[in-house]
Amino acid sequence: MNDLMDKIISLCKRRGFVFPGSEIYGGLANSWDYGPLGHLLKQNIKKAWWKFFVAERDDMVPLDTAIIMNPKVWEASGHLQNFSDELVECKVCHHRFRSDHLLEAATLEPQYDKEQVKNIADVKCPDCGGALTDPKQFNLMFKTFLGTTEDSSTVAYLRPETAGGMFVNFKNVQQVTRRRLPFGIAQIGKNFRNEITPGNFIFRTREFEIGEFEYFIDPRKQENKKTKNQGEPWEEIFEMWLGEIKRWWKDIMQVNMDNLVWHEIPDGERAHYSKRTVDIEYKYPFGIKELHGIAYRTDFDLSRHHKVSGADLQYTDPETNEKFLPHVIEPTFGIDRMLLVALLEAYHEEEAPTSEEGKTETRVVMRFPKHLAPIQAAILPLSKKDELVAVAKPLASELRKHFSVDYDETQSIGKRYRRQDEIGTPYCVTVDFDSLTDRKATVRDRDTMKQERVNISELRDYLVEKFKK
Ligand code: GAP
Repeated sequence: MNDLMDKIISLCKRRGFVFPGSEIYGGLANSWDYGPLGHLLKQNIKKAWWKFFVAERDDMVPLDTAIIMNPKVWEASGHLQNFSDELVECKVCHHRFRSDHLLEAATLEPQYDKEQVKNIADVKCPDCGGALTDPKQFNLMFKTFLGTTEDSSTVAYLRPETAGGMFVNFKNVQQVTRRRLPFGIAQIGKNFRNEITPGNFIFRTREFEIGEFEYFIDPRKQENKKTKNQGEPWEEIFEMWLGEIKRWWKDIMQVNMDNLVWHEIPDGERAHYSKRTVDIEYKYPFGIKELHGIAYRTDFDLSRHHKVSGADLQYTDPETNEKFLPHVIEPTFGIDRMLLVALLEAYHEEEAPTSEEGKTETRVVMRFPKHLAPIQAAILPLSKKDELVAVAKPLASELRKHFSVDYDETQSIGKRYRRQDEIGTPYCVTVDFDSLTDRKATVRDRDTMKQERVNISELRDYLVEKFKK
């Protein structure tokens, strides 16, 4: 594993962002639990995503659908037939791999000729050099049974994506909200895929969250922009969403935009129903790989559910009474991958002065965007003395009504600052003996390490202002 990934995984465990799953039982490969800080960070990312893409817009409505759906949903969507990856097994060590991953890795190896390696038969097992079996299809759907009998009549599946729930509820939502096209349905939720080769920490797991939305549009060609009821051309709506996605990464997630790769999927490589797909990739320490995507899926999904269920999923033009199946543009975001990117972008090591004159030490600081930081302010009494605690504790209680607050009175103040830096707390508030007389506290800025005395009675407003910037 890459050095930076090792550091991130270690910090996540040490500080309580992400723990190895089922650890006291020896773990479960590639399963991870979000600890107290990981939970808060994930909540903040989801809240920001929801605010940006759903709550602040007038063309989006929320939904929260079941994880287990009628298996016919997955028959109609094609998941039961086609949601598979090609699996190869090493004939010697019996390790299993996704053939596309091996081909991708092989073309990156210097000894392989990029042009030549097109066939998995040319590739050897990366673990022992053994020959590989012919590829076979492996379906990624997680199967289960409903109720007490386990036979074909009780088979069900855990959803592999949240999209299905939004398509099958299209008519319900449209009718109750009386929305006109274009409008979107959004949800965030857990998904399950029996991945052949999970790995790279939380990048590829078998259980993960997606935030996605189906943006339903009028497919009728717009010949004259002034004609009533004719929607904007899909190309313009797609561009609008690409612009919003860029804004999300730049302004809200505040990533270095040079670390993103906008991969336009060429003709011939897209799903047969998609007229345009862009994969948004990220330069992870383990290579450039998918972060999330956006696809124009035409009416593929609604038409499949319309046909297989027999329910009329058409939209009626309120002006002309014309009936048609809307088309859909689907931006989709892996929440766990966004969290991984937030961790990678935030991680910084730098030299910082110690309490000893002229000496420095390496400080690890997680420079999360302030609004995403799991802890927004730490209240640190200089010592555990009763008179300081008597000021610091009520202050923490008061600030907790407005911010996510940590209270810490153990160890030296230097060590406490380092700990807060490592978990990305933007502001540390220290109550010292002077506070007893001047009723002020010292606020330390995570990024600049500059300190400022602020009236305790004004701290709430002071922090509110700081978080606005
Ligand atoms: N409805 C479209 C859809 O599900 P997808 O690209 O298969 O598209 C959506 O999945 C997103 O979910 C991906 O872009 C990625 O961010 C995330 N994702 C997919 N598989 C994952 C896995 N095994 N572990 C973590 N995240 C995953």
